[in-house]
Amino acid sequence: MKKDLLSLLDLEKNDFEKLFKRAIQLKERYTKGIFDKVLTGKTLGLIFDKKSTRTRVAFETAMIQLGGHPIYMSTQDTQISRNEPAKDTARVLSRYIDCLAMRTFDHSLVEEFAQSSTIPVINALTDSFHPCQILSDIMTVIEHKGGYKNKKIAWVGDGNNVVNSWINAASVLGLDLFVACPEGFEVNLQTIEDAGIEGKINIKFTNDPREAVKDADVIYTDVWASMGDEDELSKRISDFEGFQVNKQLLSRASSDVLVMHCLPAHRGEEIAEDVLEDSNAVFWDQAENKRHMHKAILESLILDGRY
Ligand code: CP
Ligand code: NVA
Repeated sequence: MKKDLLSLLDLEKNDFEKLFKRAIQLKERYTKGIFDKVLTGKTLGLIFDKKSTRTRVAFETAMIQLGGHPIYMSTQDTQISRNEPAKDTARVLSRYIDCLAMRTFDHSLVEEFAQSSTIPVINALTDSFHPCQILSDIMTVIEHKGGYKNKKIAWVGDGNNVVNSWINAASVLGLDLFVACPEGFEVNLQTIEDAGIEGKINIKFTNDPREAVKDADVIYTDVWASMGDEDELSKRISDFEGFQVNKQLLSRASSDVLVMHCLPAHRGEEIAEDVLEDSNAVFWDQAENKRHMHKAILESLILDGRY
């Protein structure tokens, strides 16, 4: 039976571990010039309703380097924009391609596609979750910290799709996660319930970024206004006062704290210019690792129908 990757709750701990191991192995092999053409003859469709640089290019290059082909479709160029139902589009695409990656607004749309497709469907970002991002980010934590166990991870910023996926990962892997969001911008309670985190003592919430980052091994931030929320940005800039990841906030964390950001970043808003430009920054490793992790995901979903 086919499997989808719509949220990180689709994965068990063992699935995470397999993906980390394989992505790290694929990265090592790529660095040595070894190309594993395991997806020769396979096609990945990408339907994107929102902008993307990293996720799109990482998926396309991953597919090409594995010997397969990507086909990128902006939703506007498809009949979806002329109201062809998702279930019809999903059934038709299943007759042409071997896997579908979707980026859209409403998470229920990727669920609908997954239900009606006979091919694996991957969530490449919705308003609710960004699972592939957090998989490659934890891979980056493993590379730079030797593992994720007993590492304190602090989220500083909006209660958005990226932190929701961190919460999902924390609930499956038992990560020590401390989430700080401004009042009024906390993680949606519905998502918390869906993440099954009730009673999980490893996941904490606060409105105080200074409390969250105290002795943190990893600090993660993201834009204050995600795609679709841009018209609220000027108000958010004042509502998010004190939430900028800057040297002052970092001074409360562990001395070798890893600062992370999924990018794109807004300098001078959620992150200070000098933190972003730090020569030891791992943001660029995070971006690179998306390609290696996407390869591991595509390989396992297309070839095995499992993770
Ligand atoms: N991090 C991330 O998903 O970037 P893009 O929006 O450029 O794909
Ligand atoms: N939270 C951001 C992530 C972009 C990769 C957004 O949804 O716009």
